[in-house]
Amino acid sequence: MSAGKTYYPRGRSPVVALKPTTLDIPAGEVTAILGESGAGKTTVGRLVNGLTRPTTGSVSIDGVDISRLPHKKLIDATRKIGVIFQGSALLSRRTALENVELPLQISGAGRAARRARARELLARVGLEEKAGAYPSQLSGGQKQRVAIARALSARPDYLLADEATSGLDSETTRSILRLLRELRDDLRLTVVLITHEMDVVRELADRAVLFEGGALVEQAAVSDAARTPDSRLGRLVLPPVNIAPAPPGTTTWEVGYAREVALDWLPELSARLDARIPLLGGISEVINGHPVSRLYLAIPSGLPAQAVAGAGEALGLVLLPRGGDAPADSRKVTLAR
Ligand SMILES: Nc1ncnc2c1ncn2[C@@H]1O[C@H](COP(=O)(O)OP(=O)(O)OP(=O)(O)O)[C@@H](O)[C@H]1O
Ligand SMILES: [Mg+2]
Repeated sequence: MSAGKTYYPRGRSPVVALKPTTLDIPAGEVTAILGESGAGKTTVGRLVNGLTRPTTGSVSIDGVDISRLPHKKLIDATRKIGVIFQGSALLSRRTALENVELPLQISGAGRAARRARARELLARVGLEEKAGAYPSQLSGGQKQRVAIARALSARPDYLLADEATSGLDSETTRSILRLLRELRDDLRLTVVLITHEMDVVRELADRAVLFEGGALVEQAAVSDAARTPDSRLGRLVLPPVNIAPAPPGTTTWEVGYAREVALDWLPELSARLDARIPLLGGISEVINGHPVSRLYLAIPSGLPAQAVAGAGEALGLVLLPRGGDAPADSRKVTLAR
């Protein structure tokens, strides 16, 4: 999409919810939309699924500009987008199964066909045995899973989730994220995930897009963001940490992983440099199934910086001097960040 949105509330001054913004959502990936409250995330979601029309620009789904379509055609065009919102409202007088059937009923599917499809989806979200339960008899996480099943019943190509896991405990959040990952992989779903929970991003997202005050300020592959600690997204994905000061005679070096590394890299690095290397602190996370770290080591300042960087490189590490007693030849080292 390449669009902007200004709201004109009656009797109040206009609100620029989204400045003119160009955003492409890659197919088959999970894109996380991040930002503080009021940043414009939900506005992006509403534009993408046609709930709101842009004030400027256009929004295309699979090459079809939906921003000027008449209502009926818009409904057709956005049918391929399944939507889940926070605390998705299920119809309280319908069972879980009937709720999942709803979109199929609206699109005119026959009773037997929609029953079968709804059962298959409830099984998919692990709620086969709750088919006959009413929403009031389900936990928050179970309701959310029913909402996912309902969003998927019309076989969408896209899934748009706005704070779908907010307010759920971490175990339930995990099970829902696992489910979304399976859906991406099995059904090749394109997922747009609006969230303020960074755990969700680390666990599931391929790309992250950061909004601030109605403007897109950064976007990157999550794994790249983790390796760029000076970027805003980098700091969100791997937050800065406090570390112990380097002991006298040593220099603080920052370690990042350039690629998949052997987990015993620290003793290996010690051996290669023939030095004891204390760990001063840092942060280590698994992002999208891959270990990513930013750690701080105290390395004897007498060692040539080139040798330290070289030893790290051989192990798949990116080593950068970060202060303390500067190594003798640190000026010679130039490493791309
Ligand atoms: N219908 C509306 N009328 C007027 N202003 C609106 C409307 N919808 C949203 N806004 C304003 O647009 C801005 C962006 O809102 P939006 O809902 O996109 O934020 P958000 O990033 O989703 O925030 P949150 O994390 O709190 O959900 C806010 O300042 C909001 O008050
Ligand atoms: Mg919102």
